[in-house]
Order: sequence, then structure tokens, then C-alpha cells
Amino acid sequence: MDKFLITGGRPLKGAVAISGAKNSALPCMAAALLTAETVILHNLPYARDIITQRRLLEDLGATVLTPELRTHKINASHIEVFEAPYELVKTMRASVLALGPLLARFGKAKVSLPGGCAIGTRPIDLHLRGFEQLGAEVRLEGGNVVARAPQGGRLIGATISFEKVTVTGTENLLMAATLAKGRTVLRNAACEPEISDLCELLNRMGARVRGAGTPTIEIDGVEALGGAQHTIIPDRIETGTFIVAAAITGGELEIKDCQPEHLTAVIAKLREVVVVIEDLNPSTLRVKRGNALLASDVSTEPHPNFPTDMQAQYMALMTQAEGHATITETIFENRFMHASEMQRMGAQIHLNGRIATVSGPTKLTGAPVLASDLRASASLVLAGLVAQGETMIERVYHIDRGYERIEAKLRAVGADIQRIRESVTAQLTDAAGTDAAAIASLSGTS
Ligand code: EPU
Repeated sequence: MDKFLITGGRPLKGAVAISGAKNSALPCMAAALLTAETVILHNLPYARDIITQRRLLEDLGATVLTPELRTHKINASHIEVFEAPYELVKTMRASVLALGPLLARFGKAKVSLPGGCAIGTRPIDLHLRGFEQLGAEVRLEGGNVVARAPQGGRLIGATISFEKVTVTGTENLLMAATLAKGRTVLRNAACEPEISDLCELLNRMGARVRGAGTPTIEIDGVEALGGAQHTIIPDRIETGTFIVAAAITGGELEIKDCQPEHLTAVIAKLREVVVVIEDLNPSTLRVKRGNALLASDVSTEPHPNFPTDMQAQYMALMTQAEGHATITETIFENRFMHASEMQRMGAQIHLNGRIATVSGPTKLTGAPVLASDLRASASLVLAGLVAQGETMIERVYHIDRGYERIEAKLRAVGADIQRIRESVTAQLTDAAGTDAAAIASLSGTS
């Protein structure tokens, strides 16, 4: 398990390019299962979850060629297995995105039920209820979800009203509905840009989807889908993370290849706390800190409001802001694991259930800390960049799941950050006894 060693206190300066969005790439890769023709995806981030999703597709029988590092040519004409096993699902929850496409195209699917993870219980009951509304029979057998389409093997369009906004739930049902008989209407659907990106791909494949990006999505099912090419949107959470990196270190960054309209709530909040963010052109931002950072409250909400995936990074920033900031996490019940690590670095954070109050500014000091999930790891990197002295972050495999070579990007703009690789022998010793919790926590978060 690799670690990051960060020596804080250097203002970041220069330009950084944003990679493709992991949370868009994952459903788009799953969508390739809906057709026997080739789907070509460009701008995939080079992150571990993408490698895991590729492995899942290959295990099912798809072929995946990589003509360039960030391009995948996926062909699912010979699917032989209809199952995502526990070994994969436990390392990446997004493997449940195989369920909708497999059920829609082959009339059957078996996917291990993901358990809880570091940020919450994260059930998939809304996905399963939706499949049932499309006529599928869904059973739980030995820890697996086993789903079958009704007689004739084809799902039947229906109106599905989600009780709660769910991102991958919307994606799973959307994909399933593209091949269903008749019209499906999804109400209270997620409006995240990743949903619109998936719909753009699906429509290029011949699907008939309208309303993506709004809470009501209509899908007219078609008999078959074909091949398509698609470029994944820039990662809005990586963009937000680098905006905070510039602000927290008092540096100045040009953030290129991003799509600022996908993070308007984040940009508005950061401007409010006096981060100076200029639009240089439609895909480039220039960011620097204003005179002093001010504290401001935030509450996480589904898109277009402030995303839960930026909550931890915002908390790191608030340790450097003047005053008290109340951060309310409404999406996941246990997404404050980074708070106690930041406290070890000297942050003044008071936790009360789903509310964290950060008082600042505080001088953070480097310390050994533990990453618990993807965005928590990012927030600890940010805290390490501003802390005095050395911060050692353990279990950075979490950050590798969703950020493309974050340490290389940070080093290129002046950060003192090194990856410390642990030898395979050390990992084996670890696995054998000393860190069972670390092995258990391999269960994914995205
Ligand atoms: N929920 C249910 N039942 C369901 C589905 C969701 O109760 O069947 C609840 C969840 O427990 C949670 C809320 O609804 O309280 C929202 O969960 P959602 O389903 O939207 O989350 P997700 O689809 O599992 C995606 C992202 C997450 C991101 C959340 C929220 C992917 C692959 N993952 O997860 O990304 O935090 O939406 O925006 O798209 C990350 O990238 O670090 C990450 C965790």
C-alpha cells in the first residue's frame, strides 16, 4: 500500500489539465454492454476504478482494446457470463452498473449485493425496485442480486418515481429502459452532468432518451442499440479539488480542460469565501486566493447544489478561513472520517452527527494520517499541502481509484509530494496480520 509524503507550505503555481470524469466513465463503459457493436470512449481518466471496470467487462466476455492510454474500444458481442462477482463488487460498488445493461440485453443478470462502505450503508434498493417496475423478477440469493426479465426476455417500460435522488440508480434504470418495450418515465431522477453525458452516449448508440439533466427523463425503448464514439466530460470534482489546492496554498493555478458550468455551486461558494476565480475561456479557469479566506456554511445536496464529493475538500479549506463554518452532510450518513484526521493535524472541528463546525484559521502541522475513502484522501492531501512540516498519508490506493496521478499533477505545479511505494513483501506481511482493517476497508466507495 503506497503512501504520500507531503512537505507543506509551498504555494502552487502553474497550469494543470483536468482528466475525464471517473463517475461518467464508469456508466459509459457499462453502457457498452447494451450492444454487440463497438463503443469507443475517449478521455477516460487513467484511474484504478477504470481499470477495475475494464476487468469486469472482460470477465463478462467483452474485448477491450486500448489504442491510446485514455481511449477504450469496447466490444461486447460475445458476452458469456452474466455475473459480477463479490471479488469485484467489493472493490468497486459501481460494478452494480452492469445490472441494468445485462438485464436489458440478455434478460438476466447476477450481481453481488454491495455491502456498506466507509461513507455509509449505501443500499441499492431503489435500483432493484425500479427493475421490478420494469417487469423484472428480482431475488436475493447467497448475497447476490439475481434479476430476470419477464417472459419473452424483454423489460417493459414503466413510470418510476425515485423516493430519493440516486445517481447510479438513475443510470442503471436509464440503461435498462433503452431496450425495454415501450416508454419509461423516470421521475425525481438525478440531474448530475454524468447523467447527461451517459444519455448523450446512449442517444449516439441509437437510444431515444429525452430530458437528461432534468428530474424527469423519458426513454422510448428500441429493439437494439449500435456502436458509437463518445468523449467523456471533464471531472468536475477533480476541477474543484484543484481550485481548493490553489486557494489553500495561497498560490495561483490555471486549470485547463475543465467545464466550469458543471460546478457552478462549488465555484459560487468558493467565490463567497473569497477565492478569486476568473473564467479565462470556456474551459480554463484562473484561481488565486483573495486577501483572507472567510468561513461560510455549506450543506451538501444533489446536483445542481453543492456536491457531497467536494465536502471533505471544502472542510480542509475552512480550516484556513476566518470564523466558524458549519458543514452539513445530507447525502451520506458517515462521510466525516477525514475530520478526525484533520484534527490530528491541529484543525478545530466539532462533530455533531451530520454537522461539522470548523473554526479557523488554524495553523495545521504535518502528521501521519489515514485515508478512509477517495474524497477524504483528497482532503488530507490538501491539508498536507498547507501544513507546516511533513504529512504522511497512508492507504492512498483510495485516491488512486478516482484521481489520475494526482501527485504528478501537484508536483508539476510546485508541491512537495512523493509517493512512497511499499514492497510486495511488506504488503503480504500486512495482509497476514497487522492490518486486517485496511484489507477490510478495500471495499469501495465510488
Ligand atoms: N440510496 C438509497 N437507495 C438506493 C440508492 C441510493 O437509499 O438504492 C441513498 C444512498 O445511501 C445515499 C443517497 O441515496 O444516501 C445517494 O446515493 P447515490 O445512489 O446517489 O450514490 P451513488 O450512485 O452510489 C454516486 C457517485 C458517488 C457520489 C454519489 C452522490 C458514482 C460511481 N458514484 O454514488 O461518488 O458521492 O453519487 O453524488 O457515480 C466518489 O466519486 O467519491 C463517490 C463516492
